[in-house]
Amino acid sequence: MPALIDRFSRRIDYLRLSVTDRCDLRCTYCIPEGFKDFEEPSHWLTFDEIERLIGVFSRLGVSRIRLTGGEPLLRKNLPQLAARLTALPGVDDLSLSTNATQLARHADELKAAGVRRLNVSLDSLSRECFSSIAGKDSFERVMEGLLAGKRAGFSPIKINMVALKGRNDHEINRMVDFCREHGFILRLIEAMPMGETGRNAEYLDLQPVADRLKHEYGLVDQTLPLGAGPARYLRSGDGRLNIGFITPISQHFCATCNRVRLSVDGTLYMCLGQEERFEFRPLLRGGATDAELEAAIREAIELKPERHEFTEQPKKIVRFMSMTGG
Ligand code: 5AD
Ligand code: SF4
Repeated sequence: MPALIDRFSRRIDYLRLSVTDRCDLRCTYCIPEGFKDFEEPSHWLTFDEIERLIGVFSRLGVSRIRLTGGEPLLRKNLPQLAARLTALPGVDDLSLSTNATQLARHADELKAAGVRRLNVSLDSLSRECFSSIAGKDSFERVMEGLLAGKRAGFSPIKINMVALKGRNDHEINRMVDFCREHGFILRLIEAMPMGETGRNAEYLDLQPVADRLKHEYGLVDQTLPLGAGPARYLRSGDGRLNIGFITPISQHFCATCNRVRLSVDGTLYMCLGQEERFEFRPLLRGGATDAELEAAIREAIELKPERHEFTEQPKKIVRFMSMTGG
């Protein structure tokens, strides 16, 4: 079956699947204070609906799936969904992005369900700073979860740190050392103006940070692709330290974008920074055949825009990250 190629010759082989828009943290750059307006579960795709739709995507060459949210581990029985998705013949990589608050409880089960790779959001190694960013005093639970993930044998484990000027940028070196010690891959991320929260975040340009770390740790550019995502990596001579930079603002990577995002209500978002979307729930609940779903997916991919306009139109995107799936 022909692969999914968009109007800009990009091959779409990666889908980020948001399984809930709920989160137990309140990261300042993500979720507004007092936010309660979560979608009702009847609008959420069921596991049957998700499995069926991902099955069609995977027959069209989407072979890599990431479970996201909100916080994906808040979705009940997530390991069961994971097992159903890894069992699909076309899916050869299932990964999870999590804040790790619930990971200690679920790590082994997720591993057994075929989740291989883990991305953990961790913005600070100090309890106070963590709480001030995440809106909740969950630092210890997160560390327990992260270490349980390491023990369970996920590989690689990537630490995603949103670098915020004046809030956690003084902790970057400490985070580098922590990751080196544990064999985690650190990724530093620029805050995107998604919703009011993202727009108010203390954006930090990561280009000077990369130059500084390169010098301080004696790093070189990683030429081999490490992962299929947008991060550009620096590595140490012995290869034991890898630091990725995700720079959607200072140096965007839209030309090689390979992904779409399916939110929990069945909306397929073509770009984090644009409004183009396609609703799959009505089709799934209206008796569409697999051939009709396939045609709809092709139609949706045609809508994928060339790039985000976070810099030109910073107010454009009113939805914040946990709605689209991070
Ligand atoms: N900008 C960049 N990343 C964001 N995330 C959430 N909101 C934003 C934003 N405004 C991402 C971060 C975080 C994950 C859960 O979602 O990577 O670690
Ligand atoms: Fe939750 Fe992630 Fe948003 Fe923080 S950034 S509130 S962990 S979804």
